[in-house]
Amino acid sequence: MKVNKEKNGKIGVFDSGIGGVTVLREIIKILPQENYIYYSDSKNNPYGDKTDKEIEKICDNIIEYLIEQDCKLIVIACNTASAKVAKIARKKYFPLPFIAIEPAYKMVYDYAYNKPTLVMATQGTIESEKFNLLLKKYDNHKTYLLPCSGLADRIEVGNKEQIQKYLDEHIAIYKGKVGNVVLGCTHYPLIQKQIEDCLGENVQFFNGAPHLAKHLKDVLQERNLLNNGEGSIEFVDSQNLKEKKERFFKILNCDLFTDTIHSQ
Ligand code: DGL
Repeated sequence: MKVNKEKNGKIGVFDSGIGGVTVLREIIKILPQENYIYYSDSKNNPYGDKTDKEIEKICDNIIEYLIEQDCKLIVIACNTASAKVAKIARKKYFPLPFIAIEPAYKMVYDYAYNKPTLVMATQGTIESEKFNLLLKKYDNHKTYLLPCSGLADRIEVGNKEQIQKYLDEHIAIYKGKVGNVVLGCTHYPLIQKQIEDCLGENVQFFNGAPHLAKHLKDVLQERNLLNNGEGSIEFVDSQNLKEKKERFFKILNCDLFTDTIHSQ
């Protein structure tokens, strides 16, 4: 396998749909001069309830495609895929570097250990070995784990009423019970405001994307791979859906995000 080691090589970013835009958005804030190719796998959405083998196969196809597109590095902008394939992919596609998102549970340990914490993620992430190791290491013993089956798909479709219904049925019961919320799926920062409306404004949100962006910059710097050109963003959807592309660029260009805690 031939890995692109040129500074102007692309950075591949992928997720089960457009959720990973919440990761890319943080990345381009500090690395605007890179060439990105974002792969939205709407055909296989959602990943959250799929088996490990299914996810491995799906991600293999995406990674091979991104390598063919001349990527110098790949960002797994999906917590579920990261939990299940990051380790395997690093070994299989060595020396291609992978940067993988994970639920920001360590940040709770670092910044707000004493507060009861709600971890929202897909079932696949919550059941994964990777997440359970993280939980064991940084457990604050006041943590509710909530597999949000069906939430990422509703965000992907973008139906506001359906999302609100989901939050009323599954999230509202935590009002007054938690002070921290870990957004453990890259789709969830897109509805942070609705979650806040549901749980109250004293709740603090934790999102791993800003930390990932800094880590990515460090890795590029260490490997002498930082690009100094104009920068570009290419969008690919596995079903070639025009509306996905439009939503993706709309989100990238407007500030849908409220402030979240960043790790230093
Ligand atoms: N956005 C993904 C994550 O971070 C996956 C959501 C899904 O496809 O179930 O886990």
